[in-house]
Amino acid sequence: MHPQPAPTATVAAPAATPVHVLPHPELCPQGLAFEARAGRKLVDELLAHGVAIEHACEKVCACATCHVHLRDGAGFVNAADEEEEDQLDDAWGVDAQSRLACCVRVKGPGLVVELPRYTKNHARER
Ligand code: FES
Repeated sequence: MHPQPAPTATVAAPAATPVHVLPHPELCPQGLAFEARAGRKLVDELLAHGVAIEHACEKVCACATCHVHLRDGAGFVNAADEEEEDQLDDAWGVDAQSRLACCVRVKGPGLVVELPRYTKNHARER
């Protein structure tokens, strides 16, 4: 008689959120679409999928170089806190949809991300 394998608990796969990155001349010329793992930092998911977004402070909300615009889906992710808002004051090209990618936890039915033309560091060099 062959032993039966022990029943294993069913582990639900982490939810995925489709992320669409709009074309950016240097970082993502063709645009990009990928499935991001819910709960992860948006900056980590962008880097993992080949978008070389700056992250000068190593993702601790202290530099604003990871500035992005959430053109869709912003209502499903965590809101910006005071620390993030303070950092965004120094970012280049801030608008009402600006967020720091190291502060955004991926969540919801989908995100549309636009990368600013310049980062704070680039703007300073000009
Ligand atoms: S990586 Fe520095 S604020 Fe996001």
